[in-house]
Formats: sequence, C-alpha cells, structure tokens
Amino acid sequence: MRRLSFQPVNGTREPVVIQTPATLDATGADVVVMVSASSINGSDVNLHHGTGLMALITSRTSPGFDIAGEVVSCGEQVTAFEVGDRVMGLLDHSGGGQSDYVLVHQRRLALIPADIADVPAAALPLAGLTALQALRTRGHLRAGSGGRVLINGAAGGIGSFAVQLAKISGAHLTAITSGDRDDYLRGLGADHIATRGDESTLRAGEDYDLILDVPGVLRFTDVRAALSAGGVLVSTRPITSDALRLIRPTVHPDPRSPRFAAVTTSASSQDLSYLARLVQEERVTIPVDAVFPLADASEAFARAESGGVRGKVVMTL
Ligand SMILES: NC(=O)c1ccc[n+]([C@@H]2O[C@H](COP(=O)([O-])OP(=O)(O)OC[C@H]3O[C@@H](n4cnc5c(N)ncnc54)[C@H](OP(=O)(O)O)[C@@H]3O)[C@@H](O)[C@H]2O)c1
Repeated sequence: MRRLSFQPVNGTREPVVIQTPATLDATGADVVVMVSASSINGSDVNLHHGTGLMALITSRTSPGFDIAGEVVSCGEQVTAFEVGDRVMGLLDHSGGGQSDYVLVHQRRLALIPADIADVPAAALPLAGLTALQALRTRGHLRAGSGGRVLINGAAGGIGSFAVQLAKISGAHLTAITSGDRDDYLRGLGADHIATRGDESTLRAGEDYDLILDVPGVLRFTDVRAALSAGGVLVSTRPITSDALRLIRPTVHPDPRSPRFAAVTTSASSQDLSYLARLVQEERVTIPVDAVFPLADASEAFARAESGGVRGKVVMTL
C-alpha cells in the first residue's frame, strides 16, 4: 500500500510516497479504513519542518491526522460501525493518514452523513474539533452567549471553523489574518477584519471575552489588557514560557482576572457528529481551498504552507 512519508532530500524533509506492506488487522475495538481523502493540518506542516510539540514528542515521519473513507474490516468489539460505512476521523499522534489504509480505534471515528462528500469530510476532524473544543471547553462559549471574540490566524484550518462557531454563539467577531482574505472571512461571519501586525486590534480596553490564538504566537502578558474581566486567552500551544509563569497556585483565584488556557484536542465521535450536523444544517461550511492527488503531495504541502490558504488543503488517495 502507498503511504506518505517525510524523507531527507538535500538536507530538508520532503513528502515522498513510499510502499509499505498492507498488514493491517482489525482486532478489539479497532477498524480498518480504506482512505479516500486526508487533509493537511498545521500539525502536518510542523512535522514537515520538524517543529512544534508533535515533532518533539514523536519521531514519526508519516503525516496525516484526518481521514475520510470506507470501513473494510472491524475488530470483534466494534459496535458503532460495520463494513461499508463511510467514516471520518482523527488519528492519534502517530499520524499516517495519508495512506491507502489505516487502523483506527472506533472512538476516533464518526459516520459521514450521506450529503457530505469524502473530500470535505476529511477537512473537518482536527481543525473542526480543535476550534470547537477551544471555544466551548476552554473558552466557555455557548450558543447565544454573545460577547466579543477575537480570532488570530482566522483564515487557516482551525481559524475558519472557529470564526463560524463563534458566530453561531452570537459573538461580535474580530478576525486577524494576513493578506487579502477579507471577503472570505466576512463570508464566514467575521464582523471586523484586522491585518496581522495591526497593534490597535489588541490594545487595552478592547474588552474581548475570548481571544483564540490559533498559531500560538501571542503572549498573555501582552494581550491581558485587551481582555474583559474574566476574559480568556485560549492558545493551541500548551507550553510557552509565558504560560508557565501563570501556573502558580492561587488560594483565592479572582474570577474577574483574565485567564490563559491551552486547548489539547481530543478525538470525540460525539463532537465530530455534532460538527457534521452543523454542516448538514448549513450552519457551518467546510472550506476546502484546494485538492491534490497523493502523487502531488509536494504541491499540496507547498499550497498549505503558502500563507494564502482559505481553509483546508485536502489530498485524495
Ligand atoms: N493543541 C492542540 O491540540 C492542537 C490541535 C490542532 C492544531 N494545533 C496547532 O494549531 C496550529 C494551527 O493549526 P491549523 O491547522 O489551523 O494551521 P493552518 O491552517 O496553517 O493555519 C494557521 C494560521 O495561523 C496564522 N499564522 C501562521 N503563522 C503565523 C504567525 N507567525 N503569526 C500570526 N499568525 C500566523 C495564519 O493565519 P492567516 O492565514 O489568517 O494569516 C495561518 O493560516 C498548528 O501549529 C498546530 O500544530 C494544536
């Protein structure tokens, strides 16, 4: 079977399709999925360049955390799926989703509704779950909660879903992006667009109830004055020197103090099905920027890393 791998080429790591034996046996609660599409996430880009937490904690060189495809065999404890089901899912930190087949635990999968094609389905899991869990679990944003929300890195994968989910909650939404993607972000629901580097967006007194920092580049100490009483900076980067200084035991924490929180995405069938329902109800769209066959993986990564992406880049198998 084919599998994408990062291999050393002229001192850099390049995406190369390799052949591996197809020896996937579904036992226990595992499922074998024949993959038809897999999207590129920021985590794949980090792996490509050997940066980020994922690259630090794993020596794996196989990208691909999101998959969509068809169940071809089930372990004896699988109760949620059967052979022939169309599923999407988030693989664990080992990745390897840009392969013809993957072995995955059933709790990491959800059924793809009939009216969602495999390519958009493959763009949903990691970015959609991260956006949802960052806003809802770490940021305590609920339907109808309103408030003022700022999303940094709004036009990429996580950002594009976060803009839409924040809008559903009724928030007044400021989106920070680079380049010319105002129309795209307004189409997703942003009320105000700011260009990366525009200091006025994060000035004191802006009173944001939630700032979601998708690239994990903001320092809490720099943005706390822009947060409301009890407001929160949610980052995708769990360990920053800035954050470490904040982990001090406090006997009587002041609920009006701005907070820092980091999101760690968890694979949840329930959350994934919830996101799929929002898509079916046309309350959320899955923004696919470009689609490439696996053989053009280098072009796919170049596009994902180009800085001008609107949403997600997907590879087909
Ligand atoms: N903690 C977790 O569990 C978890 C889970 C998933 C992902 N992540 C991390 O989340 C990050 C984003 O993932 P993604 O899939 O959304 O990536 P993505 O599609 O590449 O989007 C990232 C966006 O961040 C913005 N950006 C990039 N570099 C920046 C910089 N130096 N300063 C300001 N903005 C910058 C860009 O926004 P514009 O295009 O709008 O300019 C880019 O589109 C990755 O680092 C990934 O590892 C963490």
